[in-house]
Amino acid sequence: MNITSDDAARHHSSLSDDAQRHLWMHFTRLGAFTGNTVPVIARGEGCYVYDQQGKRYLDGLSGLFTVQVGHGRKEIAEAARHQSETLAYFPVWSFAHEPAITLAKRLADHAPGDLNRVFFTPSGGDAVETAIKLARQYWKLRGQHGRTKVISRYLAYHGTTMGALSLTGVPSIKTPFEPLMPGAIKVQTPYRYRCNDCRDALTDDSTCSLRCADDLALRIEMEGPDSIAAVFMEPVQNTGGAFTPPDGYWARVREICDEYDILLVSDEVISAFGRFGHMFGSQRYQYQPDMITFAKGVTSGYAPLGGVMISDRIAEPFLNDTTTFLQGQTFGAHPVSCAVANANLDIFEREDICGHVLANEGRFKQLIEGLLDIPLVGDVRGDGYFLAIELVPDKATRGVFTAEQAEWLLRGYLSPRLYDAGLICRADDRGEPVITLSPPLIAGEEEFAFIESTLRRALTDASREFAGRQGQAVTVR
Ligand SMILES: Cc1ncc(COP(=O)(O)O)c(C=O)c1O
Repeated sequence: MNITSDDAARHHSSLSDDAQRHLWMHFTRLGAFTGNTVPVIARGEGCYVYDQQGKRYLDGLSGLFTVQVGHGRKEIAEAARHQSETLAYFPVWSFAHEPAITLAKRLADHAPGDLNRVFFTPSGGDAVETAIKLARQYWKLRGQHGRTKVISRYLAYHGTTMGALSLTGVPSIKTPFEPLMPGAIKVQTPYRYRCNDCRDALTDDSTCSLRCADDLALRIEMEGPDSIAAVFMEPVQNTGGAFTPPDGYWARVREICDEYDILLVSDEVISAFGRFGHMFGSQRYQYQPDMITFAKGVTSGYAPLGGVMISDRIAEPFLNDTTTFLQGQTFGAHPVSCAVANANLDIFEREDICGHVLANEGRFKQLIEGLLDIPLVGDVRGDGYFLAIELVPDKATRGVFTAEQAEWLLRGYLSPRLYDAGLICRADDRGEPVITLSPPLIAGEEEFAFIESTLRRALTDASREFAGRQGQAVTVR
């Protein structure tokens, strides 16, 4: 049959209609598509995806911080096919299978220190949920029944299940579901651009007081050290815009956790698997967690998988013959997902994906920092292949947008403009407005240049429009 472009257009429009009618898209204002077309992505190749009508987009967010080795890798698809034929499914409840065993050993070999044991989950949120439960049961087994509370950072996102959501520090996505898990305490985020101690010395760590890290000790004292089970933090916090740790931050956090005998969980759902040029984000910032939660990049998104890496010390009280960690999921350690993860790690090792990130991150940052000459661009931060651009209405004062201004800028202007220009990235207003960039780890000069030029045009025009709306004259090149 001959498929004409009219047929293709009709098919696309009917898919979009069916999506609006039947598909509940996640974290999406469903009403926003009334009268508009739902973007339907059909296929991917390398750093690019294509919509149903064949238009190409640079995947500047790696799907959702996930597609590390790029789209369309046939050898990963082949590994999934082979595993489906061999053993499509079997649980790891009192059994084991080779893909999970091999993957667990490989991850333990890559992980820092004595994180020698892996509990696999179907997702990142389940990994966080599992780590909360593991920390609580660990302390019960140690006889410290009062250690139930968990600490995390303001604005941080740790998932949507009730425990992980309690750790999440974004009020707007929590309040509809309250009351949440009690005893989830929040501490400061290292937000240097808006920190009174650091704000004038962004390129010089000498004035950083580490007050943000010391806030952890203060909260522990206020809550009572014997009531705290664990601290959950990302190596680089995503929500709010790529908050990198100042010098000495992680050493201080580790020191505080040790002082009060509290478990340190590094939530590396985004930060692991090369995003910062190392297999684990904690290796980049040189600290030793007691547990690491991971997901996303472990399979580069070719199948769902998450997990928790656990230190020998935390595993130890579970090793006698009468104790069980009372946790399990049907699809945890799914054989096809584990086989996919093994194929993904083969690519990491063979193509030195981490080395590629370390060799190219400087150029990526240099290009994006060049955007600082645009009036709306207040700050560029991040490391590796993970950068954020914070937008401000007035650079001199670092004032903040009103809710209406942020809504217009991100949802009304930038998001559709960037998408039309063929760049998928995230315009995020969970904190102050930021654009987050997290391309596949195989990206290089061509992709960086496209990201830079597309953002430059959109942000320059947005600055002009914004100034016009405010009735101000702003110099825009
Ligand atoms: C740091 C962090 N933790 C946990 C999660 C939850 O992962 P998932 O969406 O796989 O449940 C995310 C998701 O983006 C995340 O960024």
